Order: sequence, then structure tokens, then C-alpha cells
Amino acid sequence: MYAIGVDIGGTKIAAGVVDEQGNILAQTRVSTEPDDASSIDQAISDVYRELSKDYEVGAIGLAAAGFVSPDRTSVLFAPNIAWRDYPIADRVAALIGTDVPIVVENDANAAGWAEFRFGVGQQASDMLMLTVGTGLGGAIIVDNKLVRGRWGVAAEVGHMRVVPSGHYCGCGHEGCWEQYASGSALVRDAKAAAIARPREAIAILDLAEGQVEAITGPLVTRAAQSGDPLSIELLADLGRWIGEGAASVAALLDPELIVIGGGVGAAGDLLLKPAREAYGSALPARGHRPEARIELAALGNEAGIVGAADLARI
Ligand code: BGC
Ligand code: NA
Ligand code: ZN
Repeated sequence: MYAIGVDIGGTKIAAGVVDEQGNILAQTRVSTEPDDASSIDQAISDVYRELSKDYEVGAIGLAAAGFVSPDRTSVLFAPNIAWRDYPIADRVAALIGTDVPIVVENDANAAGWAEFRFGVGQQASDMLMLTVGTGLGGAIIVDNKLVRGRWGVAAEVGHMRVVPSGHYCGCGHEGCWEQYASGSALVRDAKAAAIARPREAIAILDLAEGQVEAITGPLVTRAAQSGDPLSIELLADLGRWIGEGAASVAALLDPELIVIGGGVGAAGDLLLKPAREAYGSALPARGHRPEARIELAALGNEAGIVGAADLARI
């Protein structure tokens, strides 16, 4: 059976028709406005119409960047999108007028599930996925099963407190891991550096045509790849935050594999090396226990689409 997977992030929606082997047969994407839930519904219905023209589809999976209800129909809360107790499956069903079942999943759960079934985690039974984007998402696979918790909202690792009285977070608290280990944190720090240390930030500012506001994550990654020391340092910082936090998660879960996904994966070793080093130095009882491998996601930015579609069939 074909299913459509829709990955709904803070700034864009990506959708695709996915077969049972995890192959994407057709794909589309649109930008969205995180402050407007009904425009997101409309965008989902648009991509559905476009993709379902040429394919017979048996299920629709929505991967949503937020806390999803245990019946997988609604988003209870989202730190970076305007969803509060939002019945997204019903709203989308009303717009597209179909009997095809619509299943909502947390976006990181979807991406982690895709990596586990079809990507870098195929050989693993115990895996942690971290999606590093607007927020920091998590998926936990224990003994070959996705861990959902009692009320569906397990693995919200981005909201573990890593800095007492640290940066404010969209979840209402301070010092959450996602305020340090996300694409948003990278951009915040790059902007701050461009203002505080403009001479060191010449390469970044050049790419941004002098506009601090135009600095983005991909732009920092590009500057780092062409050798800019400040950008390399910013990515290494991000990598260290990821690795250190992952060591805390490992204290709880003892995974064999930690997968890093999201846009920053494009930075490759510039991110991965510092993450591995920080993980090793923060790991409890290092040297006296087996260590998880840390790898980049294999399915790249498509993991959310593939996982949402696959989980919608189950
Ligand atoms: C949200 C998660 C989501 C993650 C990645 C976090 O801020 O709380 O539900 O998975 O961002 O989008
Ligand atoms: Na999750
Ligand atoms: Zn938080």
C-alpha cells in the first residue's frame, strides 16, 4: 500500500508518496507560517491533492513538530508552532474530504523510525535519534520498539534542562537542551558573533550580504566548509552540545547507535567529530562499558516523510 508522509516543520512542509520499502515515489514541498495553524492545514491539503492525483493512497501520515496525543489525532502542544490542543487530523480530513485514515506522529519519532527501518539503524535494536533543526527532537527505539510513553509524548529530549537559568525555551522553561543543540541555537550564536565580533565574522557577513538578519544555518555550514574559523567553531560548539547531552541520554538508555539528523547533518565531520569527542568525554564510566556509535542520518531530510508514511500504515 502506498502512503503519503507529510513532514511539518517550523518553516516548511515536505511531503511524499512512499511505498512499503520506504522509497519515495513522488515528492513536493511548500513554505509555511508557524504562527498560523489553519494555513498549515491548507498547505497539507494542497500537497495531498497534488500527490494523490497519480497514486492510489491508503494512509496519510502527518509528522508534526510537537507533543502528539496518544490516539495520534491531535497535537497537544508545540514549542515552535501555534498548535495548542489542535485536532489536526480532523481539520485536514475536513479539508480534503477523504476516508483515507490520517495518523499524526511526532516528527522526530517519524524520522527515527525511518532510520531504524530503512536507514542507518537497520542493524540496531536500541537507538536514539536526534533531529537538529528549528528545535531538537528525539526518537527512542528500545528493543526494536518505538518508545511512546504512557501518554504518547516520550523522547522529548530537547526539553531536558542542561543549563540552570539558561536561555528561554518555547516550552515555557529555561535552559532546555534545544536552546543549545539546534539549528536555531546555531543561528542565534552566529548572529551574536556577527554583532560582537564583526571582524572575525567577515566570511559569514559576506555570505549574508552584510545583513545580520540574513544569517542562516546552511550559510554558516557553507562558510565552515570553505574554511572560515568562526563558522567551524560555531559548528563545533553545536556538536559539543549534542554530544554532551547524548551522553546524559546514554546514562538513561544505553543505546548502541545515536543518529544525528536534520539540516545541520550537511556539516558532516565538522559537526560529527566534536559531537563524538564530547560524547566520549561526558560518558559515565567511560572505558568500562561498550560505547554507542554516533552517525549521521542516512535518509537526510526525507526521513520524516518516510517515517510518517510508514507509521501511518501500522
Ligand atoms: C518539540 C518536539 C519536536 C522537536 C523537533 C521540539 O521543540 O518539542 O516535539 O520533535 O522540536 O521538531
Ligand atoms: Na519524539
Ligand atoms: Zn524547552
